[in-house]
Amino acid sequence: MSGKYDKLQQQFLCCYPVNKMAWSSVKLPLNWEDQQELIAATCGHPMNRRYPVRRSYLEAFLKQLMHLLRDQEDVHDDIYSSLCGPVADNKASTGSTSTYAYKHYLLEPGAHITLRESTSFVAEGTTGLCTWEAALALGDYLLQHRDLVRGKNIVELGAGAGLLGILLKLPALQLQVGQVLLTDGSEPCVQLMRENISLNFQDTPKEQMPKAEQLNWDAVGTFPWESHAETDLLMAADVIYDDSQFDALLGAMDYLYARRGCGLETLLASTVRNVDTLHKFMTQLGDYGYKVTPCANVSACASHFCRDHTAAVQIISIRR
Ligand SMILES: C[S@@+](CC[C@H](N)C(=O)[O-])C[C@H]1O[C@@H](n2cnc3c(N)ncnc32)[C@H](O)[C@@H]1O
Repeated sequence: MSGKYDKLQQQFLCCYPVNKMAWSSVKLPLNWEDQQELIAATCGHPMNRRYPVRRSYLEAFLKQLMHLLRDQEDVHDDIYSSLCGPVADNKASTGSTSTYAYKHYLLEPGAHITLRESTSFVAEGTTGLCTWEAALALGDYLLQHRDLVRGKNIVELGAGAGLLGILLKLPALQLQVGQVLLTDGSEPCVQLMRENISLNFQDTPKEQMPKAEQLNWDAVGTFPWESHAETDLLMAADVIYDDSQFDALLGAMDYLYARRGCGLETLLASTVRNVDTLHKFMTQLGDYGYKVTPCANVSACASHFCRDHTAAVQIISIRR
């Protein structure tokens, strides 16, 4: 990336909060060509034309831009015509009534992820149809510690919309991971993950793509593990928010550690919303005989993802 609106482009395409965007890169008054360039970098970007961000976000972005340009006589037609662009808020291919739109995560030159996500945080009885902050933080952490995943067969629990598994197998990043299996207990999440895998691996041989399967933590013993490579690394992001699920999650981990022993490591990323809930889970990890090591903080400046850092994310390594 080398354009003057690269940061705004990266933020727009992943629907970063409009009020926190890099508006300082817009130098006023904005001449005709610059207005055109800014719109081409954001609303008019080919990725957004093909897979549009949610309508309400587009409107908020354009409203903010027009507010910035309020003292200018000339406002480019492209700004108005962006409001008439393609709309993504349509029904999921699963036939559900939820609305979906796209987000594009630009990671580094030549490497991006496009995800179809629900426009609501909770839809179809799950929180997993959109990507949460902890997944972005763990993604950043993995990109900064590539040795943690190189050569490993990886299983994700509660994988939601599929960001992490797609990131790990993205050909442009060359992370050289082994097999990646994304799992979630929610059937709509598994369908969405599969859709998102297809979207991001259009020219990739099937065996080099991540797989997605339904796995409820309660049913870990009946999952066909023999059809998958032996797990070296477990990952989970934002799954520690409901203590009624702790026993099921710890039971699933217990089962997998019993199969794999000390060869298995878990990386768990949690948004620190409720300290008591996290503390309760940490205590239970201790009761189950796990050793917990906090991972280094994910630094803001080296971030590949646009994160607003309003909530802290804790990443821990769990071994037995
Ligand atoms: C807050 S979402 C996080 C999704 C994704 N990891 C992320 O960070 O974007 C929690 C996910 O855990 C899944 N989940 C919750 N309880 C589960 C259970 N008992 N078995 C399997 N998955 C479960 C939900 O379906 C949901 O996808």
